[in-house]
Amino acid sequence: KHVAVLMGGLSSERPVSLRSGEACAAALEGEGFQVSRVDVDRKVAETLATLKPDVAFNALHGPYGEDGRIQGILEYLQIPYTHSGVTASALAMNKLLAKTVVISAGVPVAKGHVMKRQEIADTHPFSPPYVIKPIAEGSSFGVIIVREDQPHPPQSLSSPEWTFGEDLLVEQFVHGRELTCAVMGDVALDVCEITTEGHAFYDYDSKYSDGGSVHIVPAEIPGDVARKIQEWSLLAHRAIGCRGVTRSDFRYDDRFGSGGEVAWLEVNTQPGMTPVSLVPDIAAKSGHSFADLVRWMVEDASC
Ligand code: DAL
Ligand code: MG
Repeated sequence: KHVAVLMGGLSSERPVSLRSGEACAAALEGEGFQVSRVDVDRKVAETLATLKPDVAFNALHGPYGEDGRIQGILEYLQIPYTHSGVTASALAMNKLLAKTVVISAGVPVAKGHVMKRQEIADTHPFSPPYVIKPIAEGSSFGVIIVREDQPHPPQSLSSPEWTFGEDLLVEQFVHGRELTCAVMGDVALDVCEITTEGHAFYDYDSKYSDGGSVHIVPAEIPGDVARKIQEWSLLAHRAIGCRGVTRSDFRYDDRFGSGGEVAWLEVNTQPGMTPVSLVPDIAAKSGHSFADLVRWMVEDASC
């Protein structure tokens, strides 16, 4: 089989995607596939029409690669591809729409709403702590946590250099532990806890620097909480209509006993596949080597 690994692309997550793509391409070569590495630019449709791969392995992250746009091109060219399709990708990439869908499926989320950048800059939308998120970004790009002791909204919101759009999601900050759960087809894998010594949260640097974070699989949390998180990850995956592998992120506040409180944050339809990423690590601890995982993704691909 000839597999085109799509990587790079046009989003802020380009460097992450190049690392994901190279890791997947090397593993697929090891599994005996004929691999073409495609650094995605605006001529990608032409490139793919010429290459005519049997399958496109989508290792892109962020806008254009994770939001239904490249998936639309692949549908048009009738090339089977890995991960979610057009609609699910578009829904999941929009943090507000995704939340609306998972709420209707009964998954608990953090309280919040969408506001204009200038409105937030003028006055605190919630009493701090709260979180400001771009509606459609990944890898924590543009995420700002406003802490209890901050008297004013962040000044960067009024800066001419702001590049994360005019509409932003503001959510009450959920205290607590960072948990994540990968779904592989019909199965939720073990819940993982992420600890980030020395970082305010699981931000860009802690995600991609060696030793920037520690993954604990399975997370040391009560069994019923873990089962709930697996159930909610599957519900989110299905309600949004995802395919292949996804990863749902959560926060878990266990400060007050009685089982604690969980909030679903988002589903990633193109989770990171770099050597320090979560899904490869979680899969490995569930008995799926990196090579098994990428081979499964290629076998699961469709149009
Ligand atoms: N957006 C990054 C790649 C992730 O979800 O892992
Ligand atoms: Mg994300």
